[in-house]
Amino acid sequence: MKTDATLTVNGTDYPIEIDPHLSLLKAVRDEIGLTGSKEGCDDSECGACMMLLDGRPVNACSYLAMQAVGKQVMTVEGLAGGEQVGALQAEFLQQGGVQCGFCTPGMLVSATALLRRNPTPTEDEVRLALAGNLCRCTGYGGIVKAVMETAAGHVPRLPSPPAHEVRPAPHHAG
Ligand code: FES
Ligand code: FES
Repeated sequence: MKTDATLTVNGTDYPIEIDPHLSLLKAVRDEIGLTGSKEGCDDSECGACMMLLDGRPVNACSYLAMQAVGKQVMTVEGLAGGEQVGALQAEFLQQGGVQCGFCTPGMLVSATALLRRNPTPTEDEVRLALAGNLCRCTGYGGIVKAVMETAAGHVPRLPSPPAHEVRPAPHHAG
């Protein structure tokens, strides 16, 4: 049975109906309409679905939407507004860290979490932080280099605290 609930994503409240078995990934993509986070394996293996939950990276495919109620969910769309994350994205392009781009949203989310807790990571620390994000295209060298190049002096900031704007999810608007 579906329950009325509110998910706070990228600082906006979205009132939606949540089935108890609905994953956070499906709620955000299918109910709210933010499709930046990707579904790869749907089994906690690939990291394409990575989101920040109260600042910590989680595999949203394996996290129940109901568990995210009352928490701050941040997706790759929410990271895009910050100038520093722009630098991270630019380095991904510059260093050849993007080919098909399917893994990129999850990589950016995981790298953001890393750089916020450790602004000057070693290469080993970058590789460890991205160990849960799989890429079939780039061979990881460009991705790791992009995070290393961004690290010096570029701590990604998270979006401003929620303004608690309430926006109907597309499926339930009108
Ligand atoms: S889709 Fe979530 S880890 Fe692969
Ligand atoms: S760029 Fe294609 S999966 Fe990573």
